[in-house]
Amino acid sequence: MSVLLDLALLATSWTHVLLAPYTKVEESFNLHATHDILAYGVDSNALANYDHFVFPGAVPRSFVGSLALAGLTVPVLQAAAALDLLKSKFDVQIAVRIALATINSLGLALVRRATTRRFGFATGALFVLITATQFHLPFWMGRSLPNMFALFPVNVAISLILSRSPQTSRPTPFMIHLSLVLLAFSTIVLRAELLLLTVPLAIQAFLFRWTSLTALVQVGTFAALGSIAVTMTVDSYFWDRWPLWPELNGLYFNVFQGKSADWGTSPVYAYVSTHIPKLLLSALPLSVLGALCDPRIISLLIPVPIFVALISILGHKEWRFVIYIVPIMNVAAARGARWLLHQRKRSIIGRLCVLLLAGLIAGNMFATYILTFVSSANYPGGEALARFNELYVNQSNVHVHIGNYAAQTGASLFLQANSPPFFTPYLQRPLHNDWVYNKTENLTPLDIVNSPHFTHAITEDATAFEGADEWKVREEVWAFDGFRILRDQGRLVRIKYVWSEKLWIAERM
Ligand SMILES: *[C@@H]1O[C@H](CO)[C@@H](O)[C@H](O)[C@H]1NC(C)=O
Ligand SMILES: *[C@@H]1O[C@H](CO)[C@@H](O)[C@H](O)[C@H]1NC(C)=O
Repeated sequence: MSVLLDLALLATSWTHVLLAPYTKVEESFNLHATHDILAYGVDSNALANYDHFVFPGAVPRSFVGSLALAGLTVPVLQAAAALDLLKSKFDVQIAVRIALATINSLGLALVRRATTRRFGFATGALFVLITATQFHLPFWMGRSLPNMFALFPVNVAISLILSRSPQTSRPTPFMIHLSLVLLAFSTIVLRAELLLLTVPLAIQAFLFRWTSLTALVQVGTFAALGSIAVTMTVDSYFWDRWPLWPELNGLYFNVFQGKSADWGTSPVYAYVSTHIPKLLLSALPLSVLGALCDPRIISLLIPVPIFVALISILGHKEWRFVIYIVPIMNVAAARGARWLLHQRKRSIIGRLCVLLLAGLIAGNMFATYILTFVSSANYPGGEALARFNELYVNQSNVHVHIGNYAAQTGASLFLQANSPPFFTPYLQRPLHNDWVYNKTENLTPLDIVNSPHFTHAITEDATAFEGADEWKVREEVWAFDGFRILRDQGRLVRIKYVWSEKLWIAERM
């Protein structure tokens, strides 16, 4: 039975990967780093081919997560090749995402096991039900954001703190030390904002006498120095810049120089009012119930409001900065759900409790159904480049310009099917392998029209191509564009999905 629960988590994450296989701009640094490691290898001559030297982004980011992900992808690729499932480079992208989804499912399965140990089988099962019916975590856990790399060690840390028999009042010092090592590593190497979760947890461990101050300082120093050594070695090498500690660099750039505000700021309460309710859906009220009915939940949740309060001080807010609290809150929600189920023996009120729980889960499912549909229809760049490869499969000497919008909405390196690298020995070479996929930035449509080397373009602005004599627009690519509310004579209200053309494929005649 337990294994089935873990498999349900795995199946959910894989389903999201297969329903929405393309990626967005946030994922692209780590996706392309993984691509380059898998395609070219890591020896110093190979580095010249890497994408990040051409498109470095605003600040250097760590290669450690991508390096680990590439390592995990190799067995997935071998298995897929043995089963004859790999047809194109794009299938390698799916393999990468499947590998990440699998490792994050493992992290959640460990939290599920710890929940079962501490609160019983039913609470563990409800944790799975709540987590699998949410949207953001399952949709994103197979997407190569640094936050999703950090999610795995954070979940292991949570499971270590949680995993003990129902009556034990504290985790063993070993468990708490190991979890702090994992959190320190995640903070230093992967996502600096985790400092705001790690420090409150360390203080809690000290105040609740889970461990001694001396031990905390020793473990903290050891973990910090080790993690700094790892990131400096790996990242100085891949970025060819010594010394480089990307997360510290990013912290300096984004927080001390205030550059993160350039990405937009939100009011201080935005996490509480918008992001967290969206992440949790009906787990939010259930987690409050869990905290009310079981003091063990309160001890588990203590670092969460502190983390949220501290991170709310930063002006730039994104839901992914607080994703780590979702599994913890889901444990609390599962405990609340268990309480509701437990009331079923109490006549009419008990039945209402069960009905309420069923309604909350159904609400999750409905919201997730809509959000999954809408989100999976939102990768026009991926759709366009896949279609492009199909349309011109029999042509050689193709030189296509890929516009900014396409590059940001799914046109990843893995979709550059007919140009090197070819991922031998996993894949066969395509029919034509001399294409140029050109992502040069800041070219106007007119620049492209007037540059004779371009034979094709994938563009978000078709007017110049429609107007030019020697060009024609071959196809348009549609994507989901939002909801519109329609009223029939002021009475019947209907919600309509609106699609619109987002990209155009143009060719030189
Ligand atoms: C490419 O060539 C093959 C074999 O000649 C043909 O069957 C196929 O329809 C062609 N595809 C396109 C898109 O022109
Ligand atoms: C891509 O386009 C730019 C701008 O036209 C050009 O300078 C560059 O040489 C092209 N890249 C390749 C590999 O041909």
